[in-house]
Amino acid sequence: QNDPLVIFTPSGKRGRFPAGTPILTAARQLGVDLDSVCGGRGICSKCQITPSYGEFPKHGVTVAADALTAWNAVEERYRSKRGMIEGRRLGCQAQVQRDIVIDVPPESQVHKQVVRKRAEARDIVLDPSVKLYYVEVAEPDMHDPTGDLERLRNALREQWDVTDLQIDLATLQALQPVLRKGGWKVTCAVHLGSRAYRPRIMQVWPGFHDAPIYGLAVDLGSTTIAAHLCNMQTGEVVASSGIMNPQIRYGEDLMSRVSYSMMNAGGAAEMTAAVRAGMNTLFDQIASEAGIDKTEIMDAVFVCNPVMHHLFLGVDPFELGQAPFALATSDALNLTAAEMDLKLHPSARIYLLPCIAGHVGADAAAVALSEAPDKSEDLVLVVDVGTNAEILLGNKDKVLACSSPTGPAFEGAQISSGQRAAPGAIERAEIDPVTKEPRFRVIGSEIWSDEEGFAEVIATTGITGICGSGIIELVAEMRMAGIVDGPGLIGSAEQTGSDRCILDGRTYSYLIWDGTADGGPRITVTNRDIREIQMAKAALYSGARLLMDKFEVDHVDRIVLAGAFGAHISPKHAMVLGMIPDAPLDKVTSAGNAAGTGARIALLNRKARDEIEQTVRAIHKIETAIEPRFQEHFVNASNIPNAIEPYPILNS
Ligand code: FES
Repeated sequence: QNDPLVIFTPSGKRGRFPAGTPILTAARQLGVDLDSVCGGRGICSKCQITPSYGEFPKHGVTVAADALTAWNAVEERYRSKRGMIEGRRLGCQAQVQRDIVIDVPPESQVHKQVVRKRAEARDIVLDPSVKLYYVEVAEPDMHDPTGDLERLRNALREQWDVTDLQIDLATLQALQPVLRKGGWKVTCAVHLGSRAYRPRIMQVWPGFHDAPIYGLAVDLGSTTIAAHLCNMQTGEVVASSGIMNPQIRYGEDLMSRVSYSMMNAGGAAEMTAAVRAGMNTLFDQIASEAGIDKTEIMDAVFVCNPVMHHLFLGVDPFELGQAPFALATSDALNLTAAEMDLKLHPSARIYLLPCIAGHVGADAAAVALSEAPDKSEDLVLVVDVGTNAEILLGNKDKVLACSSPTGPAFEGAQISSGQRAAPGAIERAEIDPVTKEPRFRVIGSEIWSDEEGFAEVIATTGITGICGSGIIELVAEMRMAGIVDGPGLIGSAEQTGSDRCILDGRTYSYLIWDGTADGGPRITVTNRDIREIQMAKAALYSGARLLMDKFEVDHVDRIVLAGAFGAHISPKHAMVLGMIPDAPLDKVTSAGNAAGTGARIALLNRKARDEIEQTVRAIHKIETAIEPRFQEHFVNASNIPNAIEPYPILNS
């Protein structure tokens, strides 16, 4: 007679086991993903399964009502104390008697798939660095001189196969009373470590401790610092928050901060202290929003550009301000929160993704992790648009990377009526090609006309300026309406047929909105604004084009626009402007904040850290500053859209 057959769904894994085998044991032997924190003692309920009964022609089995053993005392006790969903059993207590089909619900899977957010390119499989383990520790004995820690380590090794554990002094100091209070039964939070550092016991609680473990994914930008607080056992984002980077008072852009450190003794240290203090404020904010204590946060992942990276670490960014732009280290870093002055759990670890090169930072590595060009069958161009554009081009055979100094024009800076994307900013625009009249949408108000045609500007108050996406759309629309020519000159009223083109010094400006009668601003696009956008977009395009040269291709299969700003760029306008190479519009997508997504992937899946470290080692870095063709592309790309490169797909 054959042993009973156990079939697990949804994995489809199956095997025969002697009657009396607990379902948890069968799952482990078959490699089925079934969770357990208490090691099968009927305490944690993480092992819940749903047995199915009846006919299963697909699996070739009939499951009898007595296929599993009846409820035992442990299972009954759990059910009466905590309650269980109808039809569920504890996998560690229910034993197989006859052929059975077992469903493992998503919440009982260790490596659950985290629900994918819109615009995310890949699934996140939960496999966090910090895990809880319940253990029973041998009591001390006059005949056995080992210490309590050694016996705890033995228990973790024997019961959970976790070895080579380190412990912080503070955790050690609390250990003996906790073990005794728990009656030698304790729950440990263990940071599982990686190739680079050893696992570590972070905290020990008496008895069975069942509370969420939290982690932070932080995108440290030069303008803003944004963080997501995640429940590391479910993958859920429980709170998100952001603050302005307090380093802004030392300089708006990266190079001015590097100059500040060069010109002022102790300047770099001041900026390090400012950003770390800002982080602590942000962490207070996010913890209070989630209603938790920030000492419950045990792990944090950071992504940032190289200058932010160095200043955060307390490394003077001096070398990044001059050729050959040497990084202090490009490796990923595993540090403690305490050594970075971050007030989280006293044993919290932090992880910084690797940098790709002196100008291509951990933020670009996070984009590579999120968008995975190295796994793409088709050739994908990934552009992370910010004050510095980070550009990746590649497929599963090869990935190239570079950065290009676009400057802050795409964020509305250095534009005469420019402003950040905030209420009052024009964010979308259209210009009627016949009447040359503009129509626009303003953040925080309903300005965009729903009427057919757009002959006039809808009267409004509260317009304050133009943000990055607005200026891109306006310049592209001005080009399409014949208000500005290929080289970037705004024509006169006679040349363009629009009274909105007004003489402004020695060049013309295009009047967008005149609110002066109501005490509001007069908003124009000046020829200087056009010039700023030309410079920024030419830098972006030339970087992308240079990578295409290196790849020996003249087109790409698809384009991904990343960065918070990338989410707001209209692909059509970006292409009309010649910011990005020609491609079918439906092949241009936005990945939203891909760097932030990459940070979240690295937070929730520890193997992703090894993966990105390997990927980054294989990426070929191109330094635009020393490539003669960059200049050539830049000159051509200064035209709108380009002096020599046609856009046949866009025009078709
Ligand atoms: Fe903990 Fe079953 S494994 S209750």
